[in-house]
Amino acid sequence: MRTIGENLSVQVNDITVAYSDLGPETAPPVIFIHGFPFNRKMWDLQLEALKNNYRVIAYDIRGHGNTTAGIKDFSIETFSEDFTGFMEKLNLTEVIGCGLSMGGYILLATAKKSPTLFRGLLLASTQCMPDSPEAKNKRTKAISSIQKQGIEAYADESIKKLFSSKSFTARKGEVRSIREMICTTSVDTLCKTLKALAERKETCSDLHELTIPVLVMAGEEDAIIAPDASEFLAEQFSNSFFEVISSSGHLSNLENTHEFNGKLKKYLEMIYTPKESRGVARQHLY
Ligand code: MLT
Repeated sequence: MRTIGENLSVQVNDITVAYSDLGPETAPPVIFIHGFPFNRKMWDLQLEALKNNYRVIAYDIRGHGNTTAGIKDFSIETFSEDFTGFMEKLNLTEVIGCGLSMGGYILLATAKKSPTLFRGLLLASTQCMPDSPEAKNKRTKAISSIQKQGIEAYADESIKKLFSSKSFTARKGEVRSIREMICTTSVDTLCKTLKALAERKETCSDLHELTIPVLVMAGEEDAIIAPDASEFLAEQFSNSFFEVISSSGHLSNLENTHEFNGKLKKYLEMIYTPKESRGVARQHLY
């Protein structure tokens, strides 16, 4: 039987997964996966906006938020197995998967292995390319800086890159909340996840075989994953839409919630009104 609420937990593989599950029982399920190093609270405004019409679920990835770290090595494959196990525990199939950045990496790895789990994908501020040697090097440096200087210094550096310069000054509440999410993540999880991100494989090949509608969104001023890399990802699918969220850095769902939620709602309406959308591959939702 389904349990509804914001502070739920379920045993999956070697971990206890913390999650929220809201909205009507029979409504189409939409599942949200957060980026690094955040937690499911980053999706609060999307859950609120959709919960009257959709079953909305957000969970904390292994080691993040209130989910335990378990004993397995961290990797995108492990995170993907956790996702699949979580879906099984909740008896979910044919979901709309929404992932930002690392959440997108997990969805891409999972959709390639188990395409039938998904009815659609929203991939925000993410890419299918692996880390370049420079990016790997930066991760190694970040690990040593966290170990030497601690999390607070790492959080202060990170928030400057995560938000656009305008949001950094105008959206103080969001900046504070993201900083808090980083600071409450353990050193162990930060370092193990940075290593997992550096070791992730490319997921671009064969994406055209996925026929579900995919919405790729990029933040206009994303300094972490350039809009071009997200556009390249959108081009790999056979049925995709690419949208750029204005006045936004890496965290478009928080920096321009109005635009982000508007495009997400439009996409969901398109999927659940099949007559209008069937067989139509367009570049933009509007
Ligand atoms: C994220 O937001 O998940 C990270 O920026 C992903 C990455 O660093 O590749």
